Amino acid sequence: MQESKDTYIHGTSEEEQKRLSLLNDLLNQSCLKEMKLEGGEKILDVGSGLGQFSRAMAKAVGTKGKVIGIERDVEQLKLANILTEQAQENDLVTFRQGDANHLPLSKEEWGTYDLVHARFVLEHLTHPEKAVAQMVKATKTGGRVIASDDDHAIFRITPEPPGFTTLWEAYMRSYDRLGNDPFIGRRLVSLLYEGGVRNIRNTILFFGDCAGNSTFEAYADNMIGVIAGAGEYMVSQSLIHPYSYQKSMEALQEWKQLPDAALWYGLCWAEGTVERKLNSNS
Ligand SMILES: C[S@@+](CC[C@H](N)C(=O)[O-])C[C@H]1O[C@@H](n2cnc3c(N)ncnc32)[C@H](O)[C@@H]1O
Repeated sequence: MQESKDTYIHGTSEEEQKRLSLLNDLLNQSCLKEMKLEGGEKILDVGSGLGQFSRAMAKAVGTKGKVIGIERDVEQLKLANILTEQAQENDLVTFRQGDANHLPLSKEEWGTYDLVHARFVLEHLTHPEKAVAQMVKATKTGGRVIASDDDHAIFRITPEPPGFTTLWEAYMRSYDRLGNDPFIGRRLVSLLYEGGVRNIRNTILFFGDCAGNSTFEAYADNMIGVIAGAGEYMVSQSLIHPYSYQKSMEALQEWKQLPDAALWYGLCWAEGTVERKLNSNS
């Protein structure tokens, strides 16, 4: 299997897998609604992580459809299979180990998927255009490609805790230090266009909350977990002083307790169709 050297900054610790799972609980229903699945679709989920969203899509397409999740990391795959087993949903979905830059598809599978999807994946790739090219190649003529991802510049929290701007800037810089783009969300439409997709939609899914709402703690913990997961790297790369890092993380924990704490974030979403000349498969 060919594997890229892209670094996945969040890693696969138990703590991080819990965060990713919680994120899925918060986001999956609104993403599903946005997808407008009709039932019966054959879907490829690229960078499927713990597979929760792959399973949600599989339930939506029903028994006439099919979902295959492609994930590079064995630890993510292991947990994805355990969670699928626990939910007794083994018949719904299949996970394959593979790289977004070299999708592990057989000759017969290329160009046959109704929908090829990647969420929170392109932001971790040094050459997202390579993965988009593979996604397009996997899609059947007339099928859809959907990419949704972060744009870290559109994030706000109030009242802003001391040190937060420095902390968030260091977090964003950790992406470009790894050769990845922290602002990829705003490039999704162009990436799809350059990959040969006819764009049909550009939107954003609200991902935020305020203190007082039952889900606020989960949103706040997700944000804190994302930063904490990159903390060691940020400090080791001198993107932030260890003292500033520690103090601003403590301030975030205090912010979380405020009765008027609020956070705004958006998941950028681009969608298009693949239209080829007859007899062309690439
Ligand atoms: C933030 S998680 C998102 C998982 C899932 N798409 C979701 O929305 O819950 C990103 C996933 O992409 C995987 N990943 C990173 N680079 C990859 C690559 N080059 N090929 C395949 N998967 C990759 C990571 O291992 C991780 O599981």
